[in-house]
Amino acid sequence: MNIRFIGSENGLITFKKLLNGKANVSNGADAKDALIFEISSLEVLYKIPKRNFGVPVFFYITTPNKSVISNIKEYRISGILFPPLNAETIMSKLIRSQTQDAAVNERDYETLRIKIIAKAENIPTLPTIAQELIKLTRNASQAAIGQVTSKIKMDQGITSKVIKLVNSPFYGVRKEIASIDRATMLLGFSSVKNIALAISLDQYYQKPFNMYKTTGQAMWQHAYNVALISSEIGKYLQQDCDALYMAGLMHDIGKVVMADFLVKEVEDVQDEREQLGCSHAEIAAVIMNKWSVAPAVVDAVKTHHDTRPELYGRIVAAANHIDHDTDNADEYIYQLGSEYPIQDIDMLKDSIQTILSDNTDGS
Ligand SMILES: [Fe+2]
Ligand SMILES: [Fe+2]
Repeated sequence: MNIRFIGSENGLITFKKLLNGKANVSNGADAKDALIFEISSLEVLYKIPKRNFGVPVFFYITTPNKSVISNIKEYRISGILFPPLNAETIMSKLIRSQTQDAAVNERDYETLRIKIIAKAENIPTLPTIAQELIKLTRNASQAAIGQVTSKIKMDQGITSKVIKLVNSPFYGVRKEIASIDRATMLLGFSSVKNIALAISLDQYYQKPFNMYKTTGQAMWQHAYNVALISSEIGKYLQQDCDALYMAGLMHDIGKVVMADFLVKEVEDVQDEREQLGCSHAEIAAVIMNKWSVAPAVVDAVKTHHDTRPELYGRIVAAANHIDHDTDNADEYIYQLGSEYPIQDIDMLKDSIQTILSDNTDGS
């Protein structure tokens, strides 16, 4: 059994000596079977998050301050330890907590999931312009297109960002584009619409993403890249590129809510599930349903971390890998090409390389 001890050097030595041969005690981050916090004052207690740590947690209380005890009920812990310590008592508490932990965790996860879903359902509504962009289908009427275009033009902020992005190398324009009308004429309404949608989602990423070891700006850029790559792959597989673009753009939107609940850094969806009992892909689906996104798009996002997703989920998963692991981009494309008939795989490789080398700052 590996136990992580967080507290004084003396405390660590005491536990190490006491449990010598029975359990490994260290202050390293990898000790994952149980966590012991030394509570030497009320201030120390207040610094501990009132969250589920995913492993049994024990408080080792070394302060006579009575307020510590009265505040402790707010924490999710498996037990309390007081000095003088006794090896047998500690071990029996630890072992009992491990067997009980599974059942307790199920209950905790359920409560957490409910809270996370509630927060996802309460995510700020999309800006009107984004709502309208999402509503537009591939064969929208000219009148509807005209209306949305004039709304984009009226919004100075969105307009200038769209102009900046349409001039990026991926779109391959020779002469600089200076207006929305010109962009629509040269690149088509679909491109302008997609860029405006990406920009209007930017506001959800204006927060810290420390537990994902990244920043909001980098998260947005990743979403934008995955949108472009997904849509590009869709083109070569003769699929609905706009739907794939939207799926790519929103594939990690669940992290916007998850970030508020995570207490430890996460590497992958497995870590998310361990801490919170759900994944960002599931939570993204809640958000997207709330935003009335088409079911096929929601499904692609929901399954982008599954082992065997359907085609759209598979495309988003590939685009996600490509953007995270750019050095091996070609490998992921060949892999996808072995599963689905990609026409002109070399051209697809080239345009994905252009997207990756671009890395336009959309903020
Ligand atoms: Fe993801
Ligand atoms: Fe991602």
